[in-house]
Amino acid sequence: QRERINTSEIQARLEKAAQGGKGIDPKNVFPAEEITEFIDMMQVYEGAMYEISTKLEVLDSEFHVHFSHDPIHHMERRLKSVNSILGKLQRRDLPLCTKSIRDNLFDVAGIRVICNYRDDVYSVANYLSSQPDIQVLRVKDYIKNPKQNGYRSLHVIYAVPVFLSNGEHYTPVEVQFRTIAMDYWASLEHALRYKSDLPDVKLSEHSQTLLDCARSLQNVETQMQNIHRDINGAPRQEEA
Ligand code: GTP
Ligand code: MG
Repeated sequence: QRERINTSEIQARLEKAAQGGKGIDPKNVFPAEEITEFIDMMQVYEGAMYEISTKLEVLDSEFHVHFSHDPIHHMERRLKSVNSILGKLQRRDLPLCTKSIRDNLFDVAGIRVICNYRDDVYSVANYLSSQPDIQVLRVKDYIKNPKQNGYRSLHVIYAVPVFLSNGEHYTPVEVQFRTIAMDYWASLEHALRYKSDLPDVKLSEHSQTLLDCARSLQNVETQMQNIHRDINGAPRQEEA
């Protein structure tokens, strides 16, 4: 049984965000008359997230049956919380309303796909991207072009049709494809980023070490990928 979105919790948070008053900029108040629309919208995002994760599970299971290989190690999925949604709009100086969320936020529904090898990352992403009922809205390949801090992952934003009683709704889902090593690195980097009480010297020292770790992990990954390719009769990949 799948967990469902907690509408009463969303409602409570929105009611709080819809409270104006003295000293509160009306720009930062969510319109109370849009609360129902927001909840309906979240239900559609949830549907989109399930559509994509089912597609990924089907691909993984096909590989398991045909090639005795599971390309997906595991998946994580989440809907952005009300507070994160409103916070992101405020940080970007965007209007606080449902239309603004639809027009500007593409990561309300998010899935993280953690694979064993880099080859799996690209094959799963390519098979999903080539399915005719979904659209690829945006690709950011931080594996080919890692971020300055060492972050690697393949980010794809898909638009997937969600069929409701009143017809189809194309809805964006952000999918982050990465290997176990990339995920291991990103978790620690994320934890470090939110340790704002750390002195600057420590922070920059750890950041440098993390960058070194990113390179080492990339090399280990390439070597292990090559062993895996070799025993499966595929061509080798050069080390970075
Ligand atoms: P966001 O406002 O963060 O969504 O930025 P964006 O729209 O430019 O998206 P991008 O594809 O660059 O990153 C989206 C998500 O990827 C983030 O919310 C994180 O989950 C993850 N991410 C991106 N960069 C990093 C990073 O340097 N470290 C870690 N740990 N995660 C990252
Ligand atoms: Mg994001």
